[in-house]
Amino acid sequence: MTVPYVAQPAPVTPPSGSTRPRLTFLGTGYLGATYAICYAELGYDVLGVDVDADKIEKLGQGEVPFHEPGLDELLRKNLASGKLRFTTSYQEAADFGDVHFICVGTPQRASGMGADLSYVETCVIDLAHHLTRKALIVGKSTVPVGTAEWVEQLVEKHVRPELGVEVAWSPEFLQEGFAVDDVMRPNRIVVASKTDWANSLLYMAHKGVFDLAAVEDREVPVVATDFATAELVKHAANAFLATKISFINAMAEVCEMSGGDVTALSRALGHDPRIGNRFLQAGLGFGGACLPKDIRAFQARAQELGAGEALRFLHEVDLINMRRRQRVLNLAADLLTRKYGPAGPDLSGARVAVLGATFKPNTDDVRDAPALAVAGMLARAGAEVRVYDPQGMENARRALPNVMYAKTMLDAVTDAELVCVLTEWAEFRNADPVALGEVAAARNVIDGRNCLDAQAWKSAGWTIRALGRPTV
Ligand SMILES: NC(=O)c1ccc[n+]([C@@H]2O[C@H](COP(=O)([O-])OP(=O)(O)OC[C@H]3O[C@@H](n4cnc5c(N)ncnc54)[C@H](O)[C@@H]3O)[C@@H](O)[C@H]2O)c1
Repeated sequence: MTVPYVAQPAPVTPPSGSTRPRLTFLGTGYLGATYAICYAELGYDVLGVDVDADKIEKLGQGEVPFHEPGLDELLRKNLASGKLRFTTSYQEAADFGDVHFICVGTPQRASGMGADLSYVETCVIDLAHHLTRKALIVGKSTVPVGTAEWVEQLVEKHVRPELGVEVAWSPEFLQEGFAVDDVMRPNRIVVASKTDWANSLLYMAHKGVFDLAAVEDREVPVVATDFATAELVKHAANAFLATKISFINAMAEVCEMSGGDVTALSRALGHDPRIGNRFLQAGLGFGGACLPKDIRAFQARAQELGAGEALRFLHEVDLINMRRRQRVLNLAADLLTRKYGPAGPDLSGARVAVLGATFKPNTDDVRDAPALAVAGMLARAGAEVRVYDPQGMENARRALPNVMYAKTMLDAVTDAELVCVLTEWAEFRNADPVALGEVAAARNVIDGRNCLDAQAWKSAGWTIRALGRPTV
């Protein structure tokens, strides 16, 4: 047993009177559903709340509405034990919960780079109107600095003051594809609260995580801080990760002009422990529902605060990231010996297989996915695009309906003049280039993630182009 990870605050009796705080997760998307299920698994009584009745129905029937390894089993197990329930009713949430975690989306605003906080606002106000006793509202959604104070003001405005409802903040760092482990075994917990009561309840709401760590002889570092810092941690972490990816992709651009090989460069850099090799793989760049919108929201907020210059570099990070998409299009034109018109390469009629639609492997999330964006760009350039992804087909079809979809990798590649590997799923990394070569119309491949064994593909007769690597 290891020592406690944080000075353990004295326990308080949760407002519901139960020994352990009862938890609600408001918003049961990738973040909230994963939390609800994992915290039930940790022993808490949990209620997942969403305005999307279809999603709630699926969850209640034991079906996770998205792909996340390991989550289905835990959902069914905890529904069966009665620890976990789902509802669309804020009345039920208010009656049940001691600690209410805000897990709703904070997408980019349609009108600019800032975060759209309307879901947070609606969720807090809906909960506030139904509360009849003291409770703790904890923000988990990724938000611009200053949001927690604003949520406090919403609570002051919409909750009867004598209830003494409080607000705390605890940003979330889970990664899709690893979410179950990230929630049960986080590499750190960041908390911000203003009173001993809130601090105690927040500690009790995380005790399951600390207890599991103790059993496994691990430590979970806790950083207790103020509201502003807790909010900034999340944006700063994503800004750093995005910068690291765009740094190596900028090196890829230089390699492309100078004949260097970015994969060797990145290996050499990564051996330096001060740099490290994670998030240092050159390729098609970052996407998903977090990094792109978070670096934009961070810049927008810094601008509002008069610190815009400090984050100007994030604009470049974004531009480097977007340029990688165009690079794939240019490589496609070169490989297929197509001309460039005023609107870019003309790929009219070219049959192109796109392998990958999700923003990374082991998820079905196609939000701001570079792979799907490139599929769309290829189609706009005139190509006949056939997409295959192991998990993201349903979401991809909805997001990009005007391309074709294949049932298998082999179907996608059959008759293609060009294959673009744009998400590094194991199925594509381990694909047999000989078998694919037999069904393709021409053996041209673009490795958009530097994930293929170039030698094996060349030996099978393929002409291969990769981002940041010399032409071979
Ligand atoms: N997905 C991730 O990997 C991840 C990781 C860390 C942080 N985050 C942050 O977590 C937040 C949620 O992200 P997500 O990926 O889960 O989004 P999501 O779009 O998958 O889920 C959001 C959910 O909130 C629901 N919702 C909207 N308004 C609601 C309301 N008033 N009451 C209840 N539910 C409501 C939606 O129906 C949806 O199911 C975002 O701020 C995101 O930046 C996400």
